[in-house]
Amino acid sequence: MQIPSHIETLIRQQSENGQTLNAYIYDTARLKKRIICLNKMMPEGVEVFYAVKANPHPAFLNAALEAGATGIEIASLGEAHKAIDAGFRPEQLIYTGPGKSLEELTWCVNNNIRTIHIESLVEAHRIQKLCIEAGKTQDILLRINANFDIHDAQTTFSGGSKKFGIDEEQLDIALPQILALDTLNFRGLHVYAASGVLNVDDLLHNCELVFDLTQRIEAEYEGVRCDIIDFGGGFGVDYEETGHDFDPQAYAEGLSAMIEKYHFQGRHFVLELGRWLAAECGWFCTEIIDIKTSRGKKQVICAGGINHFRRPAALAINHPMSIVSMGRGKLFAGQESIHQEKVYFGGPLCTSADKLANDVYIEEAGIGDIAVFGLAGAYGLTMSNNDFLSHAKPKELVVDS
Ligand SMILES: Cc1ncc(COP(=O)(O)O)c(C=O)c1O
Repeated sequence: MQIPSHIETLIRQQSENGQTLNAYIYDTARLKKRIICLNKMMPEGVEVFYAVKANPHPAFLNAALEAGATGIEIASLGEAHKAIDAGFRPEQLIYTGPGKSLEELTWCVNNNIRTIHIESLVEAHRIQKLCIEAGKTQDILLRINANFDIHDAQTTFSGGSKKFGIDEEQLDIALPQILALDTLNFRGLHVYAASGVLNVDDLLHNCELVFDLTQRIEAEYEGVRCDIIDFGGGFGVDYEETGHDFDPQAYAEGLSAMIEKYHFQGRHFVLELGRWLAAECGWFCTEIIDIKTSRGKKQVICAGGINHFRRPAALAINHPMSIVSMGRGKLFAGQESIHQEKVYFGGPLCTSADKLANDVYIEEAGIGDIAVFGLAGAYGLTMSNNDFLSHAKPKELVVDS
């Protein structure tokens, strides 16, 4: 992995200040570029929301606002507050996710957020009750657990038995009930198939199935129109450095042709993107504290582990990585270092699950050098076990190059 020169300079500066380096470095200019580029290339009606769960650091929210994201996809009240603090208005928030609490729904209804994406009948009835009490109405989308999925995706959110949405097979029971709740304005569907999809055709196929479902619902339920269709997130990034990145231009062209084919012009199409917007903006940089050989394999122990960067262990993958050599002297003559070999990287936690990378080939590295993991801007610190063993949190340094 090539570390951009301005990031390497910052790593060196930070590492030379005498303290053990353990930090995320973010360059939010990349997020802005991606939002601007999507806004230009997507067909009319497509709206780009930032899925703040990918990285809730205020700099990411500020960048999304500055770049012209339509809004923020939230999945908790905490995320709502972060978005509002960054300058987004409640009407720019869309709320997805199972298990929304009464307090969370109350806040949404009282603050007039744009849409609540209903995940169950209980949620629909709860919102109805809240709306009656508040004398309000609420725009909603219905999240459907479609009867299809994308098999080679990192994580699937539909198909099979899922906690997300209402099964497509139960639609004919659930939809009439939801339509009968008179404070809920049914605006359309949310069908999020999968995360981390690199193949554009797979995601487009999902869009086509969602369009088919839309047509079926509109044909069967008189007067019902889905004027918002939310495809969730899903644009993948090339963690395994295969050279095949997600191609947003091909997606835009495919979606545009499909909108025309189905005569769906004039509707809203929502993309709630996290990974593709944020991953490239972050590097997890952690100092090598120890190196030793255990039964023939080098074990490299870093300052931070799954408490700070859990993705590689959770997803059983290696992120792209590089070493920034700091040329520190040895403590004693026999001190081990790495020379052209495949090694294991872990953190300081007392669990063998504390893996950062395994069987990764390293040219040269020694104690005091910095292991740098790329594509760490999305689901990095935010999905890690921060308090396990109570180490200090890593620093988060932001540049806007
Ligand atoms: C409802 C919803 N929308 C959007 C996203 C963002 O997905 P991605 O990071 O794949 O773009 C997620 C991720 O889990 C999600 O659950």
